[in-house]
Amino acid sequence: MAKGLDVGTMNILSGQQDGSETVFVQQRNSFVEIEYSDMAEQMLSRSDVLHIRKDDRVYVVGDDALGFANIFNRETRRPMQHGILSSNEQSAIPMIKLITEQVVGEPDHRNERLFFSSPADPIDSELSTLYHEKTVESFLDDMGYDVEPINEGMAVIYSEPADNNFTGLGISFGAGMTNVCLSYYAVPVMTFSVARGGDWIDEQAAQATGTPVDKVTSIKEDDFKLDFRTDIGGVEGALAIYYENLLDYVIENISREVNDEDVEEDLDVPVVVTGGTSSPRGFEKLFEDHIEDANIPFSISGVEQASEPLYSVARGALVAARSDEQEEATTQSPATADSASEEEAEAEEE
Ligand SMILES: Nc1ncnc2c1ncn2[C@@H]1O[C@H](COP(=O)(O)OP(=O)(O)OP(=O)(O)O)[C@@H](O)[C@H]1O
Ligand SMILES: [Mg+2]
Repeated sequence: MAKGLDVGTMNILSGQQDGSETVFVQQRNSFVEIEYSDMAEQMLSRSDVLHIRKDDRVYVVGDDALGFANIFNRETRRPMQHGILSSNEQSAIPMIKLITEQVVGEPDHRNERLFFSSPADPIDSELSTLYHEKTVESFLDDMGYDVEPINEGMAVIYSEPADNNFTGLGISFGAGMTNVCLSYYAVPVMTFSVARGGDWIDEQAAQATGTPVDKVTSIKEDDFKLDFRTDIGGVEGALAIYYENLLDYVIENISREVNDEDVEEDLDVPVVVTGGTSSPRGFEKLFEDHIEDANIPFSISGVEQASEPLYSVARGALVAARSDEQEEATTQSPATADSASEEEAEAEEE
């Protein structure tokens, strides 16, 4: 067996194959710190709330954080910002470790293969993804997995049916960033990210309209459509403006990067857009209209939106992990395969 893991600024998800189905486990990448009290104790003991107690403080982590924050009148905090571990959050590492452990679970066997998504370095900020990637890798390794990072945009390419030979432009519009990868026969020929995504849209629309960010996020996630017919002066109008601005910004950077990279000109490239931020109705069409007008040295054969935008990165990481595992199984000689399984049996006896 193998697993795929998507470590995102807002959501952490694992994917695993069960027969013909892929099973996903998901948690919000968020936590809240509350004071330990009898009431807290009661609420925590009644359910399977993910939490850690440290002296007189309790940290409620993942999906339940928001509910506890509302009841105890506290703000939720996030371990990641702009696609990587947040340097402004002291508790980032223990919190993300706890969420990740819950989401992936124990390995099914020693050295089970696990691919986790990692962003490309952003071209519009000083942030480096190395520390983030190495930190996540090390605690998955400690759990007993055979871990490998996979570029988030590349995972998007793997998440789609293989009938395009893993050739295409994969774009993941997340919360903290947008990741882009141009893949040619499963080889990433260009990868980059920009440090803007759904969080940026929310912050800009909140600032422009004087609305709290959380309110803007919930309006956006609740049936907001990119039809440009709504609400001049309101939150939805502001969201539409910043959505369009983000798309143009991403496309402009794709055009610049592709021209810098000398990518082959006779390519006919399918584009896959995904990530939570690509969810609103009208997104795919808007993206298609805008990329058609862009100065890109190859032709785009079509724009397709992934059917489950929140799951595609975990799904792609799983596809990559499984194919890596199968490749290894077929290249291993029978003798080494035997001794490996003996070793495993011995380890299990211990
Ligand atoms: N129905 C929806 N409509 C609009 N936006 C949505 C919807 N559902 C989720 N989002 C937004 O999608 C983003 C989360 O998407 P996703 O889970 O792909 O990001 P992530 O992987 O956690 O972040 P990143 O890849 O940047 O680290 C958030 O900004 C969230 O508000
Ligand atoms: Mg993501």
